[in-house]
Amino acid sequence: MGREIRARRPAYRVCLDGGDKAAGQTIFLTHAAGQCSKCHKVGGTGAEAGPDLKGVGTRGKPEYLLESLVNPSAIVVPGYGITLVTLKDGESTGGTLVKETAEAITLKLPDPDHAGQLIERVIPLADIADRQPPISAMPPMGILLKKSELRDVIAYLKSLK
Ligand code: HEC
Repeated sequence: MGREIRARRPAYRVCLDGGDKAAGQTIFLTHAAGQCSKCHKVGGTGAEAGPDLKGVGTRGKPEYLLESLVNPSAIVVPGYGITLVTLKDGESTGGTLVKETAEAITLKLPDPDHAGQLIERVIPLADIADRQPPISAMPPMGILLKKSELRDVIAYLKSLK
């Protein structure tokens, strides 16, 4: 069920179960290095740099939640990955990959004519010379949070139904 991951992380097995969800919520809202709530909301209104985490507890197993935290680029939530593209005419561009079909990709990127606004640009695959796999804008949390903190955060995320 949900999003599957292949990585096994023996060093982090202790984080999968037994955390304290109230402590995890406090970390989510206030941790100085983790900054979760600067990028995520949980329902309602708030930050939108990352996906709304309402219901994330049903999107995959605890292993998926762990992988999302320690290696965000392993599975990039559609619409939130950043990709770089080189076109056959030599132009380089990049942005958030919002859509991909058999013919074209759609990137969201800053509007060159209106500072602070975003535009969508459709690029035919036939025009692309080279592109990078999408990467996550989320920092890997294994270095920013202690294992005990990750365990509490995972308990909190599991509770988001
Ligand atoms: C700089 C912004 C940023 C910060 C800070 C951040 N995230 Fe994220 N997060 C993202 C983005 C962007 C994505 C979507 C791309 C991806 O899948 O990695 C994401 C994805 C996720 C996902 C997967 C969501 C899904 O729908 O499958 C989880 C879970 C998550 N973040 C939890 C956290 C937690 C917990 C913290 C704090 C410890 C945190 N994030 C901090 C930007 C951020």
